[in-house]
Amino acid sequence: MKICILEGSPRRNGNTAALLEPFCEELLRGGGEVRRIFLHDRDLRPCVACRFCQADWTGFGCSRYDEMQEIFNAIMAADLIVIATPIYSWYCTPPVKAVLDRMMYGMNKFYGESRGPALWAGKAVALLMTCGYEPERGCDLFVEGMERYCKHSELRFLGSYAERHLGYQAGPFMDADKELRAREFAKKSLENV
Ligand SMILES: Cc1cc2nc3c(=O)[nH]c(=O)nc-3n(C[C@H](O)[C@H](O)[C@H](O)COP(=O)(O)O)c2cc1C
Repeated sequence: MKICILEGSPRRNGNTAALLEPFCEELLRGGGEVRRIFLHDRDLRPCVACRFCQADWTGFGCSRYDEMQEIFNAIMAADLIVIATPIYSWYCTPPVKAVLDRMMYGMNKFYGESRGPALWAGKAVALLMTCGYEPERGCDLFVEGMERYCKHSELRFLGSYAERHLGYQAGPFMDADKELRAREFAKKSLENV
């Protein structure tokens, strides 16, 4: 099974990356083939709503020449897409949002003269998040937004998993309980794809 992990934190060794370590280990143990893409290093510009992509029902068809085509290809090659992001202002970080917007149009050919296909229909999506508030109040809006995004895009929303950090002064983020929960979420995700 192919898994594409889109990493949204600007911090290579931050909380989200730390949570991804046991999560990825477990995916590999379960036979997954994992591709991690650290989005902050990439040239990923926002959607400009030109709708050029709507004329091409065979591929991305985007008019912007940055690194988004590679992300499109990686998603198309995957069975499971994992969005791994810290929560910023109750949502994902800007590079994740840029990917979501560009894929909303580039993948879903719903917005042209006539309604076309969702090129990624049936793929599975899981969310792994870290936040500062309690997850019920820190991640809830992003989770709800993504549930709606997946339904609209004919994707299968597998579920979400979040851990909280009380702040950079509060001591280390990772502990044995978080590691265990990250592994459990990986196993559950593999089972449900
Ligand atoms: C600019 C900024 C905005 C944030 N906004 C939120 C927020 O709205 N809700 C929340 O629970 N945590 C928020 N946080 C806390 C981060 O989500 C949290 O520290 C996270 O674990 C950082 O992950 P990272 O180390 O992988 O970057 C914010 C942090 C920053 C830097």
